[in-house]
Amino acid sequence: MPVRQHNIAVIAGDGIGIEVTASTLEVLRAVQKKVGGFELKFDELDYGSARYKAKGSYTPEGWLEHLRKFDAIFFGAVGDPDVPDHISLWDLILPMRQKFQQYVNVRPSAILPGIPARITNAQVGDLDWVIVRENTEGEYAGQGGRTHVGTPWETATEVSIFTRRGVERVMRFAFEIAQKRPRKLLTVVSKSNAQRYGLVLWDEVAELVSKDFPDVKWDKMLVDAMTVRMVSKPKSLDTIVTTNLHGDILSDLAAGVSGSIGIAHSSSLDPTRESPSLFEPVHGAAFDIMGKNLANPIAAIMSAAEMLRWLGENQAAEIVENACKTSIANGQTTGDLGGKLKTSEVTQVVLELIEGK
Ligand code: NAI
Ligand code: MG
Repeated sequence: MPVRQHNIAVIAGDGIGIEVTASTLEVLRAVQKKVGGFELKFDELDYGSARYKAKGSYTPEGWLEHLRKFDAIFFGAVGDPDVPDHISLWDLILPMRQKFQQYVNVRPSAILPGIPARITNAQVGDLDWVIVRENTEGEYAGQGGRTHVGTPWETATEVSIFTRRGVERVMRFAFEIAQKRPRKLLTVVSKSNAQRYGLVLWDEVAELVSKDFPDVKWDKMLVDAMTVRMVSKPKSLDTIVTTNLHGDILSDLAAGVSGSIGIAHSSSLDPTRESPSLFEPVHGAAFDIMGKNLANPIAAIMSAAEMLRWLGENQAAEIVENACKTSIANGQTTGDLGGKLKTSEVTQVVLELIEGK
């Protein structure tokens, strides 16, 4: 039988991104060997802050065209204590999301067996959400500028962009996700009381799209009230659709209330499959723990499981996901989840579970 080949661009990036990507590649190689029938061909790219400091740019010329040829991109994290964050983000991660039209960022969170309760009364089964974040426009559209720089009249604008097409496609994706989940429940988050143009359009488009999904029960929430509901009534939520900025914040909150940012995984998808999709942990470079073998590699490994699923390798995806969940259920975790293991030790546990040792 011919082997299915998947070409993966690997950008470990910076900080703990480098550590958790190394763990992820070990896990992917192990599951490929275990399951068989497919081959992952990794192209490890040096894009990141070290390159920026040495050569003056995060990426070589023509990098986006180069990346376009891959079946998927795996990404660790970007960020360096010596480089302003807006430079590192805009030189590496945000252009990929925009140029490849990865218009949805899917961020699941659940309280898994073995995870200590973070909020009162929330047990396993009480929190099982999928956050669908708009990923190419909104507040992170990159429109704006600064004039009269350095003077008392300095002016800066940061313009949010909401297009009907952009809102409709993410809304449709979210309704579809909600429809496929058992509870068929969607919460549309906005701030259309104060932001009376873009987010009113957001709400109107939700209303229109909902007509095509009569079996999905949906409601609307303002983002501020949403934070309270996420903490006090987690069970009342299932699928959530939000703008770029709100989704960024709410998904970190979701990670906090469900367990840890160290297990929060995500996929930045181009659902049309015209461009490669990108799979990445939610967390950043984590300066406080980088280089110490303390980072939880599960967020990155679970992101890679999503990548396997996207590539059609469902059996491998399931094996990786189950190994991660079992390690957590057994309490074999890093410090962020209350355990005592190092990054390399958690990786070893996951590898052994995959290999069936
Ligand atoms: P961060 O996610 O890097 O860290 C926040 C806190 O969570 C830290 O205390 C960190 O130790 C902890 N943490 C994060 N990942 C963890 C893991 N796997 N295991 C255990 N603990 C973990 O966010 P922060 O501190 O706001 O940003 C640091 C740098 O990363 C900045 O340069 C920022 O711009 C960048 N960043 C990059 C992202 C990306 O590449 N997608 C996303 C978020 C931040
Ligand atoms: Mg974030």
